[in-house]
Amino acid sequence: MDPSTAFYGTLNIGERIAEDFLAGFRQLVPEAGNSLDVLDLFCGKGFFLRGLQQRMPSWNLYGFDQNPPIIEEARNNCPEAIIETHRFPPMPYPTSSFDLITANMVMDYSDTRPSVGFPTSFDFVNYAHELSRGLRKGGHFSPFIDVPVTDLESEILRDFGLVAQPGNFPLFRKIK
Ligand SMILES: C[S@@+](CC[C@H](N)C(=O)[O-])C[C@H]1O[C@@H](n2cnc3c(N)ncnc32)[C@H](O)[C@@H]1O
Repeated sequence: MDPSTAFYGTLNIGERIAEDFLAGFRQLVPEAGNSLDVLDLFCGKGFFLRGLQQRMPSWNLYGFDQNPPIIEEARNNCPEAIIETHRFPPMPYPTSSFDLITANMVMDYSDTRPSVGFPTSFDFVNYAHELSRGLRKGGHFSPFIDVPVTDLESEILRDFGLVAQPGNFPLFRKIK
């Protein structure tokens, strides 16, 4: 069994953290509008999407994950979002689709974190490329709940135009 399935079957972390995420995001991006296009990458059971939906009902929410039973639950948990079964890479969306991409608890699957024991499912360079491709200029990427981004990962994101914003809140702005 995928360890994440067991963990997320019993804990509804994503929904609880949506409120904290929104508080920080609004503070750092006060100009963010009320009709953002938002992707939660590797959305799992959709709890974070549901938390966003409840608080920001005018946002257009999207999610995908590789695991079909999880996606079924995600669709039940957040029926307002457009949620797809899809294994990354690439992202199943056209270039410049989103104002905001969130990704919670996904770094265990990155090739930059080989020691944690999870199966590697993506190459971080490709990940940064796809995040940048999916975001509009001026859009944001937030790995809100995850291990801190390393200097190497931050450099790779910067190479793709995603620049870390000052402060403790994990937020990258697409500048080009
Ligand atoms: C620890 S869970 C986090 C789920 C969700 N982000 C949350 O916070 O509730 C990691 C998720 O990443 C998904 N995942 C891992 N590699 C993937 C890939 N290459 N493509 C799509 N989904 C992937 C797994 O199926 C799992 O649901």
